[in-house]
Amino acid sequence: MTQDILTHTEAGVMTVTLNRLERKNSITSAMYGAMADALEQARDDAAVRVVVLQGHETIFSAGNDIGDFLNAPPASGPQAPVFRFLHGMADFPKPLLAAVCGPAVGVGTTLLFHCDLVYAGDNAAFSMPFVNLGLCPEAASSLLVPQMFGYHRAAEALLLGEPFMAEAALEAGLVNRVLPPTEANAYANAQARKLAAKPTTSLVETKRLMKKGQRDLVHQQMDHEAESFGRMLREPAAREAFGAFMDKRKPDFSKL
Ligand code: COA
Repeated sequence: MTQDILTHTEAGVMTVTLNRLERKNSITSAMYGAMADALEQARDDAAVRVVVLQGHETIFSAGNDIGDFLNAPPASGPQAPVFRFLHGMADFPKPLLAAVCGPAVGVGTTLLFHCDLVYAGDNAAFSMPFVNLGLCPEAASSLLVPQMFGYHRAAEALLLGEPFMAEAALEAGLVNRVLPPTEANAYANAQARKLAAKPTTSLVETKRLMKKGQRDLVHQQMDHEAESFGRMLREPAAREAFGAFMDKRKPDFSKL
């Protein structure tokens, strides 16, 4: 079992912590698997009423582990750990909160679109640089980002792939509140405890009703994206981008 994901349950709140600081909390296949398992356990255990996903006050996540992308691109299909995790996030019936400080790259940002409440440190920097990596969006972000941001701001985030900061995320509706980084995790936990004191049946039903119209669309979009993403991972643009990251040089897409 990986130590790169830590889980702790107290007062009805399960906290899932990304704990791979030496690699900037980038997410390996084993970590997706551990988070998918934690979500399943939280879903089925009546003692867990709310889940909080958090990183460190300096970094939320550098996104997918690029070494994994190079050496072990995810198998497609619903049982692949990354897809178990993403579908588990989209379907999670109880309240799901996130506390985000520092960089939140790629899936570190797109997973937030499946959370109910998001609290950010004022050092949070969100980015979805899929195009810069020769890839395309995942986690239904090609559907959910335009919906939340409006098309043109979504195009800025997804085509240019430039980071946007906590205040912009607050204004766009991705974040509920911006706090000092030292306070974000604790604040999210306090909000989670408030939710844990409410009747779970009402929380679950309210969330189900809010998400009902979207559910099938979200899963369909994730599946379409996964098909393209899986193919693009093996194509020259992505191989050049990952090679450049590993070699610490700028990628050269001029011939692609
Ligand atoms: N996969 C694998 N290793 C990663 C990683 C990732 N996504 N992100 C960072 N690392 C590794 C670095 O290679 C580095 O390893 P080294 O110490 O052996 O050189 C270590 O983590 C520290 O990263 P570094 O880039 O030096 O930290 P930083 O504070 O200067 O920058 C980030 C932090 C998150 C801005 C930067 O690491 C980054 O942009 N990472 C890549 C993000 C990315 O493109 N993710 C894929 C999204 S789909």
